[in-house]
Amino acid sequence: MNNTKTNPTKNQTQTACIRTFGCQMNVHDSDRMRRMLIEAGYEEVERYEDADLVILNTCYVRENAVDRVRGHLGELNRLKREGKVKKVALTGCIGAAEEGGELKEQYGIDLVLGTHNTYELASFIGLPNMEETFTPDLPGMKGQHSAFVTIMTGCNYQCSYCIVPTVRGRMICRPLENVLGEVKELVESGTKYITLLGQTVDAWRQKGLRFCDLLERVSEIAPRVWFTTSHPSNMEDRTLELIGRKDNIVKRLHLPVQSGSDRMLKMMHRGYKAERYRRKIEVFRENVPDGTLSTDIIAGHPGETEEDHQRTLELVEDCGFDAAYIFKFSPRRGTEAAEMPGRVPEEVVQRRFLEILRAVEGNALKRNREKIGAEEEIYIRHPRGEDGIAIGETWSGHAVHVETDASPGEYVRARVNSAGPHVLYAEEI
Ligand code: SAH
Ligand code: SF4
Ligand code: F3S
Repeated sequence: MNNTKTNPTKNQTQTACIRTFGCQMNVHDSDRMRRMLIEAGYEEVERYEDADLVILNTCYVRENAVDRVRGHLGELNRLKREGKVKKVALTGCIGAAEEGGELKEQYGIDLVLGTHNTYELASFIGLPNMEETFTPDLPGMKGQHSAFVTIMTGCNYQCSYCIVPTVRGRMICRPLENVLGEVKELVESGTKYITLLGQTVDAWRQKGLRFCDLLERVSEIAPRVWFTTSHPSNMEDRTLELIGRKDNIVKRLHLPVQSGSDRMLKMMHRGYKAERYRRKIEVFRENVPDGTLSTDIIAGHPGETEEDHQRTLELVEDCGFDAAYIFKFSPRRGTEAAEMPGRVPEEVVQRRFLEILRAVEGNALKRNREKIGAEEEIYIRHPRGEDGIAIGETWSGHAVHVETDASPGEYVRARVNSAGPHVLYAEEI
């Protein structure tokens, strides 16, 4: 019976499973915890039932993020009762909120850590204290074809609806030398694609240096570069020109607008008017004619009228987004918007959400169809699956499905055959 599929290592080595929710900050933090686990001698496993320790690295930005985590906690409690899982830890943004403590009580979680004391995981898994090393400056993982590099943590804005500043704290910019040092090490270890990461990367500053200076320096070292996410109030024309000028910066701009109505933008404390956003997009289109543009939009923030909603639909038409992440307003405990009058009824939010979605997708499909017949150089991100299809990205930042044997980090030339609203389908040539 030597081919039975049990986990032979389970009783010898300690095993751990990390589940990541939320944005790339969490993906990056999970990588750091993974390094700690490896150092402590843990083996990483995919399934909860094979894990001695399960870490849920959580997101708090909208209520459905919490609902998902509750589902997982329920399942983990069952596995714990059956003796399959020994310990459960909850980290990340829920851990940094009051709700972290409440979930701990409710589900009997063994360890709850916030975003500012994640290093305490060390003593929990038998490592010496790592307070000094688990700072915003701790690098991520090496040896991957593409990697995130944190350039700032936290956020100095106070958008009415947003919990991120509460759970991530104020902005800390990572020094230029340290960013460049990590990029260099990564590139030397074989990384081909660097994504600069932060909640408002374009707010990065250091003694007279600004984000565009940092981006330019990174683009001189790394073969391929992108950055996310940006705030319209910090986005400089110089940065938009740089994206157009440098061949190895991916020509996709993610610039969250949230609403097309000045009244709403003001209520949200976004710090810009719709007209200023439109002008930024014009500068982007002029400098980066082959670029793609994506955004975030919130439907149904308190006080949003039909008139405000129409302004958003107009802005969507005018800007011609290639993609948008549209969110239904979700009240977050402790934020200004959660206390505001004028809550929009759920069915109205749902209709507005769908109207925005339809407008964005119609436009995205139209723009993607214009690419049919084009020959593109495609960076492979995920290797072919059983269907033979690999997932890649054009220099303009379109997602592409292409039949190829190429490995992640390699480029293939391909012709676009057809297009959907979210993806291009191409054939290798
Ligand atoms: N720092 C980024 C956003 C991070 S959160 C920025 O400012 O662009 C990602 C997105 O989630 C936001 O852009 C916003 O569209 C959405 N979001 C944040 N809080 C929300 C809430 N309470 N309800 C609905 N959507 C929200
Ligand atoms: Fe949240 Fe606004 Fe900061 Fe973005 S800029 S993280 S939406 S507070
Ligand atoms: Fe969520 Fe925290 Fe990111 S709340 S969006 S995981 S910063």
